[in-house]
Order: sequence, then structure tokens, then C-alpha cells
Amino acid sequence: MTKLIAGNWKMFKGPAETLAFFDGFEAPDGVDVVLCPPFVSLEAAVGEEWPIYAQSVHWAADGAFTGEISAQMLVEIGVAGALVGHSERRQLFGETDDTVRRRAEAALEAGLGVIACVGETETEREAGETEAVLRRQVAVIPKHERLVIAYEPVWAIGTGKTATPQMAQDAHALIKSLHETRVLYGGSVKPDNAAELLSQPAVDGALVGGASLDPDSFAAICRAAASLS
Ligand code: 13P
Repeated sequence: MTKLIAGNWKMFKGPAETLAFFDGFEAPDGVDVVLCPPFVSLEAAVGEEWPIYAQSVHWAADGAFTGEISAQMLVEIGVAGALVGHSERRQLFGETDDTVRRRAEAALEAGLGVIACVGETETEREAGETEAVLRRQVAVIPKHERLVIAYEPVWAIGTGKTATPQMAQDAHALIKSLHETRVLYGGSVKPDNAAELLSQPAVDGALVGGASLDPDSFAAICRAAASLS
């Protein structure tokens, strides 16, 4: 199956840097590519040839929700989908399993694609709770053909610590037994470890943070995925 490589830019790249990225980015055939710029750069990015996702989306169509953006607003400017439940949203901005569910449902209802993120913290892994945490987080995620799950072990995000290919495979196999969908791996994916992670049978793609900011390194990860599809 074609692998999906999504780049989550987090709070990096305003509109000018977004356009500069696309000037330097070329993806091979044989891989699905998604990019997730910050809200203010979405309009600059939607003119490009790849599907553009927001990094979050609110569940209401409109209302008194300062700082939030609705699915309908994203659709209006040509955005194709949204991340929901990223661990930074869960840890720093009070996202819960329930708000993740509500955001995912609203986005799907509005016609958007969704990448829903799950993953255990280091403390949870060390306490042997990984499976229970994944079961709890996955249980609330709606089943839909436009929904993909990303497994991002929190201890591997931005730390340079990558899950071993076997750890990724085991977590993905569990998630797939609970929810029939593509499952992406995220957490310190780089050009030099992408092929090994992506060659695991239950790893259907990657959600890339830091290495998606540079067009050459993101293209290298896309090439690794294309060669395995
Ligand atoms: P890094 O690739 O920088 O570890 O980030 C992973 C991530 O959080 C992608 O959503």
C-alpha cells in the first residue's frame, strides 16, 4: 500500500518561509504527502500541489471560542484535513480523549481528513502501561475512511530517541487490532532511520516534525517511503 508521509511544522514557518519551502521541495511518485503548517500559513500552502492539513480544529462551527478555528473555516480556504490530539496539545493545552474525539468527529463531518495522534509518555511506558494507554486513546477515535492514526510515543518526540522498529511494529499492530486504519509512526523520524521504521509491516507511513522543516530532508524521507511502497 502507498505510504503516507505527513510533515507537522508545529509553530515554525510563517507564510514567507512556507512559500520558500515549497520552492525547494520535490516529492517522488509513489508516496502520499501531507503538510501541516501553522494556521496563518495555511492559505499560502493550499495553492501548492500537496494536501494541506491544519494542526488542530475546533468542534463547533462557530461561537465564542477565542483562539480556535472551525472545520468550516478550514474547508473555506481549501484545507484538506487536520491533526487532532497531538501530544503537545494534550500536554500543554489541556486536550483530553473527549476533546480529541469531538474535534475528529467535527472535522470528518465537515468533509476533512483527520490524522489522530496517540502515544504513551515515558513514565507510562516504564510502568508497563503502554497497551492500556493506547487502548484508551484509540477507543474514542471515530472509524472513518478519511481518518488515519499516528502513533507518537511522547518520549520520542523531538528528543532524538526513536522507538526501535520492533517497538513501533508492536504498537502499530495493537492499534490496527483495535481500529482498521493506516497507522503512521512519529517521533524523531529522520532520513537515516526512515527506511528501517517504514519497512515494518504495520508502519504505513510517518508523521515527521523537525525533519519536515527542511525540504531536502523531508524529500529524503518521502523517497525512502516511495521505494518501499
Ligand atoms: P519530531 O520528528 O521532531 O520528533 O516530532 C514528531 C512529531 O511530534 C510530529 O508530529
